[in-house]
Amino acid sequence: MSNLVIVGTQWGDEGKGKIVDLLAEYADIVARFQGGNNAGHTMVVDGQQFISHLVPSGILQGKTCVIGNGLVVDPEVLLGEIDYLVGKGVDAGPENLKISEKAHVIMPYHKAVDHGRERMKGDKKIGTTGRGIGPCYEDKATRRGIRFVEMLDADLFEERVRAIMDEKNFYLKEYLKADTVDPDAVIYEYRGYAERLRPYIENVSVIIDEAIKSGRQVLFEGAQGTHLDIDHGTYPFVTSSNTVAANACSGAGIGPRHISGVTGIVKAYTTRVGAGPFPTELFDAIGDAIQAKGAEFGATTGRRRRCGWLDTVIVRNAVRLNGLTGMAITKLDVLGELDEIKICNAYEYKGQTLSEFPTNLKVLAECQPIYETLPGWKTDISGIRTYDELPEEARSYLKRIEELTATPVDIISVGPGREETIVLNNILAR
Ligand code: GDP
Ligand code: IMO
Ligand code: MG
Repeated sequence: MSNLVIVGTQWGDEGKGKIVDLLAEYADIVARFQGGNNAGHTMVVDGQQFISHLVPSGILQGKTCVIGNGLVVDPEVLLGEIDYLVGKGVDAGPENLKISEKAHVIMPYHKAVDHGRERMKGDKKIGTTGRGIGPCYEDKATRRGIRFVEMLDADLFEERVRAIMDEKNFYLKEYLKADTVDPDAVIYEYRGYAERLRPYIENVSVIIDEAIKSGRQVLFEGAQGTHLDIDHGTYPFVTSSNTVAANACSGAGIGPRHISGVTGIVKAYTTRVGAGPFPTELFDAIGDAIQAKGAEFGATTGRRRRCGWLDTVIVRNAVRLNGLTGMAITKLDVLGELDEIKICNAYEYKGQTLSEFPTNLKVLAECQPIYETLPGWKTDISGIRTYDELPEEARSYLKRIEELTATPVDIISVGPGREETIVLNNILAR
């Protein structure tokens, strides 16, 4: 039996949703373990596109989907997503969707603080998704958060909200010069969410543990990417959770011995949304062409994604930080029109060659990527379904990625659709 963690290796939007949806066919449970509705995971099935922000990407395969304790959940968004899925004929009822009672609840003041802080930072802003993610994790860490278990207890919820809102409103009004939030309205609004979500809220650690004990397979779905990790990413231009594979355990409530593999999703080039360093970023016509062909707009905020060449310094960093056992290379089709393709294999910093990703952002800002250039394949590969049919240049590109990262490519994605995939090694298949 295999329990596999899927993580992003770059700065998010690598195509995690597509690969999780694909592999979910062989899983019994799909569990998200961190982040919130800052994530936007896209699945395309029979030509129909679904974007999910909170519901795990196993829902279209009819699998049990779990929202782990490591998430911060906006109940309004979650209910909207459930309605959207049900409207599309997807079963997203409490039988199929379980929310951890320990997950933290995003409150209106978290969103107001997120917006207010970004506005105050001006051109120094992080470029957050504005969904209240950072302020909610902050309250979790300072032990002022509200979990689903508390939201379900109307009296306790009211007590907690009233206790915290004086301070929140003082901060919003006096420091951020933002509108305050009315506690009575919040209490009323969230009481409605609590009643609708009550049947979904469970002790998910027990559910996952029982599934594993009875030999069922679990897929753990990461959000964001390794370089947005609060510890290991390009701090402070990061999200507020641990995005690396180890957090699958604490964020879903299981022990590390149950994890049998970690697949890193690697986009065949690099993208980033929001601010922060990005050594291989392209500011030329090639960058624009990749952006256009790859339709690189954020699935959550609609922002244009910054694009650049594949950076194997960061992918190697992700191999180590996540303990990757394999990789899925996505969006290989997007590079199909280029004459030449570059891969960054190291950085040059003040005459020295760096093969490891620097922690100091000032150093990183001065790093120049060292590239090797490979020939392009100049063909549309989106219809190809076997490795051997891929053009030789595309196979060479994949081989070089494997060499530079010392990690095998298990899956190749050549289009957004579930079927537009070449599976070389499906570790979940029984
Ligand atoms: P996630 O956040 O990692 O799940 O990725 P997103 O869904 O935010 O962004 C990936 C985008 O690329 C989505 O629009 C997908 O439909 C699309 N996509 C995924 N894999 C491929 C692929 O192999 N080729 C192409 N052309 N698009 C893909
Ligand atoms: P998925 O799961 C890409 C980025 C934001 C910003 C930074 C902090 O779809 O890959 P936050 O709102 O989390 O406080 O913003 O993190 N970010 C993402 N970028 N994909 C995501 O998720 C992201 N989630 C957050 O753009 O730079
Ligand atoms: Mg995304």
